[in-house]
Amino acid sequence: MPRPIHAVIHQPALANNLEVVRRSAPQSRVWAVVKANAYGHGIRRAFAGLRAADGFGLLDLNEAVLLRDLGWQGPILLLEGFFQPQDIEVLEQYRLTTAIHCDEQLRMLEAARPKGPLAIQLKLNTGMNRLGFRPEQYRAAWERARALSGVGSIVHMTHFSDADSARGIAHQIEVFDTVTASLPGEASLSNSAAVLWHKAAHRAWVRPGIVLYGASPTGRDADIAGTGLQPAMSLHSELIGIQELQPGDTVGYGSLFTADRPMRVGVVACGYADGYPRHAQGWGDKRAPVLVEGVRTELIGRVSMDMLCVDLTPLPKARVGSPVTLWGQGLPIDDVAQASGTVGYELMCALAPRVPVTVATLTAPDQAVSPVGA
Ligand SMILES: Cc1ncc(COP(=O)(O)O)c(C=O)c1O
Repeated sequence: MPRPIHAVIHQPALANNLEVVRRSAPQSRVWAVVKANAYGHGIRRAFAGLRAADGFGLLDLNEAVLLRDLGWQGPILLLEGFFQPQDIEVLEQYRLTTAIHCDEQLRMLEAARPKGPLAIQLKLNTGMNRLGFRPEQYRAAWERARALSGVGSIVHMTHFSDADSARGIAHQIEVFDTVTASLPGEASLSNSAAVLWHKAAHRAWVRPGIVLYGASPTGRDADIAGTGLQPAMSLHSELIGIQELQPGDTVGYGSLFTADRPMRVGVVACGYADGYPRHAQGWGDKRAPVLVEGVRTELIGRVSMDMLCVDLTPLPKARVGSPVTLWGQGLPIDDVAQASGTVGYELMCALAPRVPVTVATLTAPDQAVSPVGA
């Protein structure tokens, strides 16, 4: 028998979350962002849940080719564009839309003279200061791109640094609108936070990622309460051991947790080699939540490579074999992330290859759980 740990990818949740995006930005077309192997969910698995999107945004050419192999005929956007001159042939072969964010990419394009028409998204740096042409360089970059016979549509693109926080997007929108006002072309601005909270940024295209997977752009589950978003990844395991502690007994490496009363502790087959964060708090007053038999309890001690321990005080009947949910349906991934000093994005992306994955399919979500490769 394999270890009892496994993850479930819920395709109905992905489809539902895409619908939530559509209701939130009804006038916009949606690039479903599936970079990083669909935020750890697996491109192949996520594709079936998100195929009602208008396009897919990602980084790696091999992920783009996989989408074409899966039968996707619609737009695919390379969010960072291409890296080498020889990539341009692949763009043409697979009809990929590419971001152009720097002078070097423009020069590669000028030298390659693609036959086209190649769709591009020209990236304007409106204050994120990561990728993109600065406002004073943008018009010249647009004119150079426009002058290339192989270039077809040019969409104006930018990315927000603070759509999920108090600073907001007004300062970036102002730069964007000023710089692009006299240039033709559609616009693509919104990440998940802007889709949910900034209507002014809903232009021709939106580019949500994290909300498609049912987690919060802020890292706080309370912020997406009432949106209808559902978790698309659940991580499950079982208790494989139980310890009876006496006051003064400690648990795990570093003895970070000390029992102050007699208590039962469950040992779960899940550790940091499965993708559970080693930094999750198992001591002090903000311990990571865990569900055992559907009851919320807490992590105890330090997470080790293959195991972690949980408090069984609220579960006197728990036994070896009791089901455990580490995150997902019934336990927001953001709650676990918060107790680990991170956000849901990081946890879902870090699901380890050794964890077997099954898929709850769109056709019969409760019955049709089947193993599917990434
Ligand atoms: C350019 C770009 N657009 C959209 C997204 C989606 O962001 P989110 O997952 O916060 O919706 C990302 C993710 O980092 C991105 O880099």
